[in-house]
Amino acid sequence: MMFAFEIDKDQPVADFYHELNLMADGLLSSEANPVAGMANLASLLFHTLPDINWAGFYIMRDGELVLGPFHGLPACTRIPVGKGVCGTAVAEKKVMLVEDVDAFPGHIACDSASRSEIVLPISINGQVVAVLDIDSPEPARFTSDDQKGLEVTVEHVQKHLRLSELLAPAA
Ligand code: SME
Repeated sequence: MMFAFEIDKDQPVADFYHELNLMADGLLSSEANPVAGMANLASLLFHTLPDINWAGFYIMRDGELVLGPFHGLPACTRIPVGKGVCGTAVAEKKVMLVEDVDAFPGHIACDSASRSEIVLPISINGQVVAVLDIDSPEPARFTSDDQKGLEVTVEHVQKHLRLSELLAPAA
């Protein structure tokens, strides 16, 4: 099985995400296991989105975020709810679009190259079970157009993957 992961990054952002989300839909619709799906999606995002240095997931476990599938440098493994950009996205159940991570109180620096970040909650039945986190070495890399595109990506995650498996008790 081979995939061609190339998207013209010079086209309008909405068109870029239309293509990206067609690829995401294809990847996720063929495999509902949440770890497998998240791993492939992290790869897709990392290799298609321009100017990013990290793309991946943190998964809720026993009341805190634990590192899930990702592409990029090794990262912090546990983030308490309410801490950092990821933990704030869970606590407030909202997308966090941070133009300057150094100006975000409590930002957790996993890769010192990161300058801006977007974090989107992933929910089932209103309960946040994971977050999608994407970091960039460019300040203000992410706009509301990126947010709109990635919200559709998250809808594909919520539609295709068996996220209820993430709720199983574990140590
Ligand atoms: N910067 C994040 C931590 C995760 S890493 O960026 C991969 C935060 O403040 O939540």
